[in-house]
Amino acid sequence: MLSLLHVWFSVILKVQAFTGTYGVNYGRLANNIPSPDEVVTLLKAAKVRNVRIYDADHSVLKAFRGTGLEIVVGLTNGQLQDMSANADHALNWVKDNVQSFLPATRIVGIAVGNEVLGVEELSLWEALLGAVKNIYNATKKLHLDEMIEISTANSFAVFANSYPPSSCKFKDDVSQYMKPLLEFFSQIGSPFCLNAYPFLAYISDPENIELNYALFKPTKGIYDPKFRLRYDNMFDAQVDAAYAALENAGFDKMEVIVTETGWASNGDQNQVGANVSNARTYNYNLRKRLAKKKGTPHRPKNVVKAYIFAIFNENTKPGATSERNFGLFKADGSISYDIGFNGLNAGDSSHLSLKNIKNRGLSRSYAMSTKAEEYIVGGDIGWTSFPPGGASFYSKWASNFTFKLNDILVFNFESGKHSVAITTKSKYKKCDMSKTTPFLATGPARVTLDHKGKFYFACTFTSHCRSGQKLKVKVVTHSSPISSPSSPKAPPEEVYCPPLPSGLVPIPPSNEGTPSSSSSSSTVPGVIAPPPPPQTGSAMTLPVTFSLLLINIAFHVLLQF
Ligand SMILES: *[C@@H]1O[C@H](CO)[C@@H](O)[C@H](O)[C@H]1NC(C)=O
Ligand SMILES: *[C@@H]1O[C@H](CO)[C@@H](O)[C@H](O)[C@H]1NC(C)=O
Ligand SMILES: *[C@@H]1O[C@H](CO)[C@@H](O)[C@H](O)[C@H]1NC(C)=O
Repeated sequence: MLSLLHVWFSVILKVQAFTGTYGVNYGRLANNIPSPDEVVTLLKAAKVRNVRIYDADHSVLKAFRGTGLEIVVGLTNGQLQDMSANADHALNWVKDNVQSFLPATRIVGIAVGNEVLGVEELSLWEALLGAVKNIYNATKKLHLDEMIEISTANSFAVFANSYPPSSCKFKDDVSQYMKPLLEFFSQIGSPFCLNAYPFLAYISDPENIELNYALFKPTKGIYDPKFRLRYDNMFDAQVDAAYAALENAGFDKMEVIVTETGWASNGDQNQVGANVSNARTYNYNLRKRLAKKKGTPHRPKNVVKAYIFAIFNENTKPGATSERNFGLFKADGSISYDIGFNGLNAGDSSHLSLKNIKNRGLSRSYAMSTKAEEYIVGGDIGWTSFPPGGASFYSKWASNFTFKLNDILVFNFESGKHSVAITTKSKYKKCDMSKTTPFLATGPARVTLDHKGKFYFACTFTSHCRSGQKLKVKVVTHSSPISSPSSPKAPPEEVYCPPLPSGLVPIPPSNEGTPSSSSSSSTVPGVIAPPPPPQTGSAMTLPVTFSLLLINIAFHVLLQF
């Protein structure tokens, strides 16, 4: 009883290693990638806080000091047998590679081995649990066990069958090693770590697996008769397959975390689908998927968290060409494709190199002198459906300010309960939200007032709009005497507008009335959120700058998480 209580408490008190929903793997099998200091700059600009490395390289741990980045370090497979056999080696390893860097470097987890079960030789399967226990004991001895999560990442090779998801089970030979490991992880409150690659599934069978399903694009999806659930993307199905395997093994409470996922932008001749456009579509849609902070069809309450593989293309990685081409960034720090991040040397990135911009003369100084103000729409009341005083509330609020070009409106609201459509005058007047207007579904939402003239905003729930959740603002040009040699529009670096990848899946509008239930798709047997209507029809009626603005906004929103 006492020990049960103890376990219960340690589970509750446990600090989770993964605090966001979008992290990255910082693989370093390369001889040409940026320095750890530059990587810190890159990650901070991208607002990615959760990072995994595959070892405990001290130059990385030093560079991460005082940055606020949260890092999971790794114990390599080559170290497992030693760590398993020698508790004192494990203790020394934790002292030298973890304790000595705390608290300045926020080491939040230790991954003991990588893809060991089902993949490596049997001697390592046998060593894994011993290494995990000795490393855990070491953290306990050093009073770090509440701060450091111990885990190990599993590949799909541990599963016998994963289609449909409900049928997933651990392979028989893996099971005898997996079960005691899971037993221990459940005692210390660690999650099940899964490396999930729709990419690998697709390239292994491109004839029979639908590319759209693998890339989060509109699709019929698959139906799981036992779960009585429909899956519209393979990533969610893979996560639920892991949940099913855990349930089948008796671990219903354990959380699944995706420690790797990604898509290669280049591959060998026979690796169909390893190309830039698919990599971009997968990573773009994945980023949106994770930003929603939602669970899976089978586990709607367990918000899905994933670390992307990987930051960089790694030129010294062995194996197929795809192995060296998973990077969101190329070795020179530039982006591999555009999913909303800025590369290291992007001179015209407003996030990264303010210094460069200042030095670039008049046309840029326009941007610097326009001191953009930020306004919280409705002040403390926020963006809500029954504002005090009714329908005139937001107009009154707006009448208190003079909005200038490049000012930012911040709409504070709970995602799923409200939204912000950027609409036209006539639709605004009639609260006509029936046709999909481009809108922002995630609160708080930021909108840059990027052109002169009027902006019309409303909640997409028609009844909310009718009860006063609408706002009209007029934007005047900046009155600064600085003359801009070019147009009075926002300079390019202020408006970040990547073209949409072909596979962009717009977030479907929630139905009126029951936003929370309708937005959690697929929890009702056989019911799937209808594929969102193509955005072109309504977007085309808006000036082009509006749709560009929207993309800009979409990224502002993404950057909030
Ligand atoms: C871990 O430490 C506890 C005491 O703190 C000890 O009883 C146990 O045997 C140790 N386990 C291993 C695997 O060394
Ligand atoms: C990428 O691969 C897909 C097949 O997976 C193919 O349909 C598409 O044309 C390819 N794109 C490019 C740019 O090669
Ligand atoms: C706007 O200004 C008026 C006074 O002019 C004030 O009473 C009101 O509280 C302000 N409203 C907001 C939302 O700031």
